[in-house]
Amino acid sequence: MTNTPMTKKLSIVVAISSNNAIGKGNELLWHLSADLKHFKNITTGHTIIMGRKTYESIGKPLPNRRSIVITHNKDYKIEGAEVVHSLDDALNLLDENEEGYIIGGAQIYKQALPFCDKIYLTTVHHHFDADAFFPEIDKNMWKETEKAENKADEKNEFDYTFSTLERM
Ligand SMILES: NC(=O)c1ccc[n+]([C@@H]2O[C@H](COP(=O)([O-])OP(=O)(O)OC[C@H]3O[C@@H](n4cnc5c(N)ncnc54)[C@H](OP(=O)(O)O)[C@@H]3O)[C@@H](O)[C@H]2O)c1
Repeated sequence: MTNTPMTKKLSIVVAISSNNAIGKGNELLWHLSADLKHFKNITTGHTIIMGRKTYESIGKPLPNRRSIVITHNKDYKIEGAEVVHSLDDALNLLDENEEGYIIGGAQIYKQALPFCDKIYLTTVHHHFDADAFFPEIDKNMWKETEKAENKADEKNEFDYTFSTLERM
């Protein structure tokens, strides 16, 4: 028996620029040391789900997390990660009460957003030229439950805000 995506608790973790950009040339657009730490704090000890391109951009399974990578390629294998061939298959690998963390990229965010109830959002206050974007967040469907604004410094090249959005 398979589970539908709606039975799973799903969160998105994403960093988005002022113009909704998330990446270019299969790389991130900024270096924000605080955001890397934030990402690590949120996801460590949990299951992270990502598209094949994001996996290749990171280059290896992240330590202390269960990694699930989605690809159409039936021959794709990764030591230290589970490979599946649809978002549904990824969600079916989660335990019933487990929260899964969708970590990108653009294709996977777009497919997963309708099934997510929380977004751990980093907003990077700068416009970027990009080729990967996050879908528009409908402000009528999400309420901000946490917000922390931060200024650029020697380890973080742009101003940024950490917020948590929960589906209304
Ligand atoms: N700012 C952030 O927080 C953040 C986070 C993550 C990633 N990113 C950026 O996002 C960009 C990558 O995003 P992307 O949209 O190009 O790639 P992606 O979503 O990471 O991966 C896309 C790939 O996933 C597989 N896939 C997608 N939907 C599928 C489905 N329904 N069934 C089976 N396989 C499926 C396909 O792999 P195959 O081609 O192998 O079939 C597809 O090419 C990069 O620039 C990265 O740096 C940014």
